[in-house]
Amino acid sequence: MYSSKYIQYHGLLLSTAAHSQESLEYAQNFPVQDTDVFAVTYPKSGTVWMQEILPLVLNGGDLTPIHTIRNHDRVPWLEFKRLAEIVDKLTSPRALVTHLPYNLMPLSFHASKAKVIYVMRNPKDILVSSYYFHQMAAFLDNPGTFDEFVDKFLEGRVPFGKWTEHVKSWKHAELADRILFITYEEMVQDLPTSIRRISDFLCCNLSEDVIQKIAEHCSFQSMKANTMSNFSLVPKEYMDSDKSPFLRKGIAGDWKNHLGLEQLVRFVSVINEELKGENFSLPWSLD
Ligand code: A3P
Repeated sequence: MYSSKYIQYHGLLLSTAAHSQESLEYAQNFPVQDTDVFAVTYPKSGTVWMQEILPLVLNGGDLTPIHTIRNHDRVPWLEFKRLAEIVDKLTSPRALVTHLPYNLMPLSFHASKAKVIYVMRNPKDILVSSYYFHQMAAFLDNPGTFDEFVDKFLEGRVPFGKWTEHVKSWKHAELADRILFITYEEMVQDLPTSIRRISDFLCCNLSEDVIQKIAEHCSFQSMKANTMSNFSLVPKEYMDSDKSPFLRKGIAGDWKNHLGLEQLVRFVSVINEELKGENFSLPWSLD
């Protein structure tokens, strides 16, 4: 059984704060345009980061949207209730984000030429980020102890289900050159190079100066200071940044400060077992 904070959609738990049967139906029937760009993520992999980067890449580095439009309206979530209210304000080329697995994408997406940027993050860091997010977000279940949360995460009793299923669905997506895989870790390590990859993929042809400028405005510190991106305008009863800020640490490898040896072995063996026999390899070692 799941709590009243969630609805179930094709076996996935989704928070009722942002999702409804209507919003999911709306997403399913959403008329995708060929010029649309989707940033696809499993939660806590860098979604909000892409909501900052994409508008700047697509508009040649004009800072207006990131300083005047809140992230969830500038690059809306496909599956959120909010999309229907603001869809008419989006200008082409539209950028959207989604946590949906490939098989639940809109019907029109499959026939379109819309592009996808899939941001992949080491699941051990997703686990930690998600644990803190569950503490600060009142619309999610209390995570319990960290040890209990490890099990919840591995069993997929968290929003959008199992990480392995999400990755598998997109790794097997038949999108050929319509999809770019990028990792959170490479973005942390070298943001300008990552932005160059995204720009090339979207055929935006940005100059080195513009790339540097975008990287500067999408740094962890810049985003943490941007009220349009740091969720500080969200009422405390929904997101309490005193418990944990949304832009929390912004690093790779924080799992080392949280996972004990037994938890690490359990975590790695479950993930490896679920990915056994897949014809792709992970960009990092899980050990
Ligand atoms: P941490 O909790 O590890 O700090 P999502 O947007 O998918 O919910 O992911 C949130 C995670 O992305 C958080 O991770 C957040 O700090 C991180 N993040 C957001 N913007 C970032 C940036 N500019 N640089 C590095 N990490 C960023």
